Amino acid sequence: MFFSMKVMGLNPNSKPFAFAHFLLFLLGNVASAAVFTLQNRCSYTVWPGTLSGNGVATLGDGGFPLEPGAEIQFTAPSGWSGRLWARTGCSFDGSGIGTCVTGDCGNGLRCSGGGVPPATLAEFTIGFAGNGDKDFYDVSLVDGYNVGIGVLATGGTGDCKYAGCAADLNTVCPEELQVRDGGGTVVACKSACAAFNTSVFCCTGEHGTPQTCSATHYSEIFKNACPTAYSYAYDDASSTRTCSGSDYVIAFCP
Ligand SMILES: *[C@@H]1O[C@H](CO)[C@@H](O)[C@H](O)[C@H]1NC(C)=O
Repeated sequence: MFFSMKVMGLNPNSKPFAFAHFLLFLLGNVASAAVFTLQNRCSYTVWPGTLSGNGVATLGDGGFPLEPGAEIQFTAPSGWSGRLWARTGCSFDGSGIGTCVTGDCGNGLRCSGGGVPPATLAEFTIGFAGNGDKDFYDVSLVDGYNVGIGVLATGGTGDCKYAGCAADLNTVCPEELQVRDGGGTVVACKSACAAFNTSVFCCTGEHGTPQTCSATHYSEIFKNACPTAYSYAYDDASSTRTCSGSDYVIAFCP
């Protein structure tokens, strides 16, 4: 009996062999998933929001509180594409209904849509077999800034460079871009596109191509403070990082 099973296992058409292939297939998928470790290094609570742009999976139920010094982990499956950001000054009732001063996603604790700009974004596409298992990631100020974010790739191979905005842009934000809370403190900094809605600042119309959309006085303030973050729509492509088989530490107030 034992012998016959062993022989059966070597037959490529046998069930055990097919099952071994199925396991390899599963392992292959697990290998390209990425573990996200979110850390709150701010002195205040943030309420991270997550949004999958391609509906692959909702991470962390879409949103949750993260106390100062706390961290939380979840796994972004192979092929996950989406963004994470911090919400600040939130107040939710027992059933999770409420609003935030910055990064609000409209429907309470758990986001089902993107955050309201201005908000600093960490953007990811996790590799899958069809793209050579390569992850793409960046930190973007294209929709403005609220909280510093740093993305550190760990354990992967390839470029895998740090992306982030560690500087506090709220302290250098020009007055015409400032968002203040009820107490008058600057809590976020708008993009020039959001503030002025012109084709030059929004890279639309005749400024809608990489050749005709250029840095502006405002995007340069962002770029100087945060050189490894995207500062405007067609900013230097080197702001996008790539890495394979990596996990990521995403820190707020890095
Ligand atoms: C921005 O300007 C365009 C046309 O110039 C207009 O269609 C659009 O509604 C404006 N957006 C906002 C948010 O004001």
